[in-house]
Amino acid sequence: MTDIVVIGSVNLDLSASVSRLPAAGETVTGAKLSRFPGGKGANQALAAQRLGANVKLIACVGDDATADEALVLLREGGVDLDRCIIDAEAPTGVALISVAPSGENQIVVAPGANNRLEPESFELPNADALICQLEIPGSTIAYAAENFAGFFCANLAPAKEIDVSVLQRADLVVVNETEAAWYGDSLAACTGMIATTYGAKGAVLRSQGDVMAEASPPAVEVVDATGAGDTFTAALTVALVEGQAPEEALRFACAAGAIAATRQGAQPSLPTRDEVLQLL
Ligand code: RIB
Repeated sequence: MTDIVVIGSVNLDLSASVSRLPAAGETVTGAKLSRFPGGKGANQALAAQRLGANVKLIACVGDDATADEALVLLREGGVDLDRCIIDAEAPTGVALISVAPSGENQIVVAPGANNRLEPESFELPNADALICQLEIPGSTIAYAAENFAGFFCANLAPAKEIDVSVLQRADLVVVNETEAAWYGDSLAACTGMIATTYGAKGAVLRSQGDVMAEASPPAVEVVDATGAGDTFTAALTVALVEGQAPEEALRFACAAGAIAATRQGAQPSLPTRDEVLQLL
């Protein structure tokens, strides 16, 4: 079984299904509110576990009831939470999400304890692969990039300044098209593969500018895109580390992300490996 470490965020998602996304300064009423476990790190950890990997999550939550709610599906799913730090000085992260009938969303994150996941607060275990995203301090990501020996995946979401050493070290960088545009030419520092996702249009895997693989997701009815990118990142890492060929791995990741978009919420929507194989 593939051993994966995820270093990243844990949030409780307060998700409002709305008739349309609000414009700046506008109030849209009539929404239906739901609460889901979320956070890019936690979503990627659970996604990888459901896809057949053995996952350890390194994260930081507050000493509060929100943490219990945010961690419940990770616990039920068998993700190893022994390295999950409880910090009494900050609240568990919360994400405020609006979801339109098209499945498109807007997300605002109050990171809370996620910002307190510092490199000196944990030890890096050995594993086949490590996945990180950008909802935790940049110093922690740079530390992981420097000290982890296996396959290193950096999902550059949400887009923000990042140490160039992370781009140089990453075996795989994952961005959506908005993030790709935000990083622009700085992605030229990447020495490994770059996977760019284009929503329903699919994804492209490149290395040093050369296209290695292209894939389109199977046609699905999109309900809520929250967590689809996290699922794609986890699935692509799992598949590549298992030794799947780039074309096959990208198809697997696109299908996994597509399934996540057909269901409401982040973690409740993450597919199992059997579901992905069945869709393929
Ligand atoms: O990628 C989706 C995630 O982004 C949500 O679960 C939310 O918590 C934010 O971190």
